[in-house]
Amino acid sequence: MQLKKDIVMSGIRPTGFLHLGNYFGAVRNYVRMQEEYQCFFMVADLHSLTTHPDTQDLRQHVSRVIAENIACGLDPDKVALYCQSHVRETAELYLYLNMLAYMGELEKTTTFKDKARLQPDNVNAGLLTYPVLMTADIILHRASLVPVGKDQEQHLEMARNFVKRFNHRYGEVFPEPAAFNFGEDLLKVPSLDGSGKMSKSENQLATLYLADDDEMIRKKVMKSKTDSGPLSPGTPMPDFIENLFLLMKLVSAPEVIDHFKGTYQACTIRYGDMKKQLAEDMVAFIGPIRERAERIRNDSSYLRQVMEQGAEKARASARETMLAVREAMGLNYY
Ligand code: TYM
Repeated sequence: MQLKKDIVMSGIRPTGFLHLGNYFGAVRNYVRMQEEYQCFFMVADLHSLTTHPDTQDLRQHVSRVIAENIACGLDPDKVALYCQSHVRETAELYLYLNMLAYMGELEKTTTFKDKARLQPDNVNAGLLTYPVLMTADIILHRASLVPVGKDQEQHLEMARNFVKRFNHRYGEVFPEPAAFNFGEDLLKVPSLDGSGKMSKSENQLATLYLADDDEMIRKKVMKSKTDSGPLSPGTPMPDFIENLFLLMKLVSAPEVIDHFKGTYQACTIRYGDMKKQLAEDMVAFIGPIRERAERIRNDSSYLRQVMEQGAEKARASARETMLAVREAMGLNYY
C-alpha cells in the first residue's frame, strides 16, 4: 500500500526580483521537497496588491518569479506551480476565515505594524488580513508543511490558530500547518550592510538578486561593511562580520570558510581578500541561475503552459477542499 504523501504549500510575492534570501529561505527547500512530497507553490499576486496596488508591471513580475523558480530547479511537472489569482476558491476560503480572525491579533502582527509604518496613507484592510489570506492559500490544499524563511514564522503561528478555531467550530477539516526547514531553524539571510535582511523591494544595494550580473555582484559584495579587523585573539565577532561568514557558508567551500575563520582568530584576517573570495563564489553560484532564468523568461508560450498546467492542478485540489469546507460549515443547502 502506498502511504499518502504529506502536502506542502508555499508562496512568493511578485513585488520585485528574487534574491538570495528567497532562494536559501524558501526555493532551495521547494526543490528538495518536490521529490518526496505533494507540492503546491504559487506566486502570491493577490498579496502583492496590499503594498503594490499598481498592476502595470505585475504580469512581468509574475513571469519572472515563475521563471526564476524553474531556473532554481523546480520542475513544473512534479509540483503545481501556479499563480494565486488563478485559483478563485482562495477568495471564498479567505472570506470564511475572516470571520474567525480578530482585530486585536491582526493589529498586533509584526508585518502589519511594519507595513503600516511604511505606508501610512494606505493602511488597507487587505494589509490587516494578510495572514488570513496566507492561511487560505495554505489550507486550501490541506497542506501541513510550509517551507518559509524566518520572517514568516509569526504568520504560520497565526495560521495554526485560525485552523484550530475552524476545526473547533465546524469539525476537523484541516491539518495544522507548520513552518518547515528540514528540522533546522528557519533561515534569515542578512543584508550586506549589516542592517536587517535581504529584501525584494527595500535595501536593494545590500541585497544580492538572482538577476544581478557578475559585475554588480562583485560591486555589492566589495562594498559590504567591514572594519579594521580584530586586534587581540578572542575578540567577539561584530554582527556585520558574522553576517559575511553566514553568507559564505551558503556558497563557499568548507575549507575556504575554515581558512578565513582561522585568520580571524589569529587576527591576521584581510577582509578585502575575504570579500573577493565571497564575490567570486557568489558569481559562480548566481551566474548559472541568472542565465537559465533569462532563457526561460523569454519563452512566453512555455511560461503560459506552465501557469495553465499549475492552475489546473491547484484548482482541482481547491475544489475538493471547498466541498468539504461548505459541508462542514453547513452551507450546502441543496
Ligand atoms: P516573500 O515574497 O516576502 O518571500 C518569499 C519567501 O522567501 C523568504 N525570505 C527569506 N528567507 C530568508 N532570508 C531572507 N532575507 C528572506 N526574505 C524572504 C520568505 O520567508 C518566504 O518564504 N507572505 C509570503 C508569501 C505567501 C506565502 C503564502 C508563503 C503568500 N501566501 C502561503 C507561504 C504560504 C511572503 O510575503 O513571502
